[in-house]
Amino acid sequence: MAMARGRRRGTAALALLALAASAALTLLPACLAGVTSPYVRPPPRATLSLIHDDDDDADGQTPLQVRVALPLTVSVLLLKIPFLRPLFRLEPDQVHISMVGPDKMRVTWITSDDAPATVEYGTTSGQYPFSSTGNTTTYSFVLYKSGNIHDAVIGPLQPSTTYYYRCSSNPSREFSFRTPPATLPFKFVIVGDLGQTEWTDSTLKHIAAADYDVLLLPGDLSYADLVQPRWDSFGRLVEPLASARPWMVTQGNHEVEKLPVLEPTPFKAYNARWRMPYDAGATPSGDSLYYSFEIAGGAVHVLMLGSYTDFAAGSAQREWLRRDLEAIDRRSTAFVVALVHAPWYSSNEAHRGEGDAMREAMEEALYGARVDAVFAGHVHAYERFARVYGGKEDPCAPVYVTVGDGGNKEGLAGEYIDPQPAVSALREASFGHGRLEVVNATHALWAWQRNDDDLPVVADQVWIASLAANPACNRNKK
Ligand SMILES: *[C@@H]1O[C@H](CO)[C@@H](O)[C@H](O)[C@H]1NC(C)=O
Ligand SMILES: *[C@@H]1O[C@H](CO)[C@@H](O)[C@H](O)[C@H]1NC(C)=O
Ligand SMILES: [Fe+2]
Repeated sequence: MAMARGRRRGTAALALLALAASAALTLLPACLAGVTSPYVRPPPRATLSLIHDDDDDADGQTPLQVRVALPLTVSVLLLKIPFLRPLFRLEPDQVHISMVGPDKMRVTWITSDDAPATVEYGTTSGQYPFSSTGNTTTYSFVLYKSGNIHDAVIGPLQPSTTYYYRCSSNPSREFSFRTPPATLPFKFVIVGDLGQTEWTDSTLKHIAAADYDVLLLPGDLSYADLVQPRWDSFGRLVEPLASARPWMVTQGNHEVEKLPVLEPTPFKAYNARWRMPYDAGATPSGDSLYYSFEIAGGAVHVLMLGSYTDFAAGSAQREWLRRDLEAIDRRSTAFVVALVHAPWYSSNEAHRGEGDAMREAMEEALYGARVDAVFAGHVHAYERFARVYGGKEDPCAPVYVTVGDGGNKEGLAGEYIDPQPAVSALREASFGHGRLEVVNATHALWAWQRNDDDLPVVADQVWIASLAANPACNRNKK
């Protein structure tokens, strides 16, 4: 794929400015004006076709289905013709993994043919002493019929260990992943609104080059927008990363995919393809659209909230959130972070006010639990706020960050409310991704990497101190 090589304008100067601003913000939160980046972003890029030319197929192994990106519906039908079968990809496809409790992993994959939902695995390449068999499901969407979507939970697994695995006992593709560490430090990548454009491709390359443990995605995955084969192409696009590290996702508006009369059930593709551990952990939610999990032996608690399901007072999600937050012991849980799709705080003109109702329903609960940071997507730009509660700066409130800038086809949201609100520390309409490194029980380093004309550039960096370690914020806490 040919990448445009644009010029990098004033990048170093801006990165320094942003660093200075964020350093100052950490020290002097009350008296610093926010920064609106002057960076001018190149235009949106094309949606990936995922059509490879023959040069890409140097090993001669790339199966036809990938080369011509046939919709699964078509391949499922053509597979019935015996002499065509050898041309098709029968291998496990769209493999991705997600955490289930502290020491298990769910492996999810798709086959166009019937195949067992079995994962075989071990710590040596080519040797699979363990195996687990799960379930297979399919869904249809108007005329589209999905492939066989398999998932199996494997474990118990050792922390910080590389496992090799294969799916449906198919010897042609071996995958591997590294399990997350059981203690701090711990490294997250956080990126929303990925889509599948050339910008997405570039962002994914930057993420692949990072050393991280778990990827968190605050909604808007494939931008299939009812065209179901795009879920398959998205699955193939992210497979190299998502089969190697857990991808923990929550839903965005592009996951809803409802059609009046024809497809009245929301989240059909999303629920079938991206099953998350809503039935596991200390406080299972019982609903695929919101859940929580712990990492690093409970040092970090992650809330994956649902912006497109009921969150009002008295709703099942609100009740689950109350129970979940009550069960957290901040003496052992150093950091609590939450992900939502529509940002609760934003000074971008795009999607103004869309997160307000959810903020009104849940902000007090997160504040009371001393949640350290809230990450959102939806707005296709980057913005970092000070610690905010009720619209005002508050030293015991979460830091709010919008990272809806993975690279989707809708392009960037470049219009900002003027003047910049005092609580907005830095805002910039560029593609990119975030990295959150929880260094120890008191400190986490947040860094936003701008996708700068195909090079990752740190354009914002700030230390986030644990609120649990701040005595002023915990006088009446257990
Ligand atoms: C398979 O699905 C059934 C019904 O949803 C569930 O009870 C069971 O735990 C699943 N099995 C595995 C191994 O995931
Ligand atoms: C935690 O990390 C921060 C930042 O590197 C450092 O200043 C601090 O001393 C560390 N705390 C402990 C207890 O090691
Ligand atoms: Fe969105």
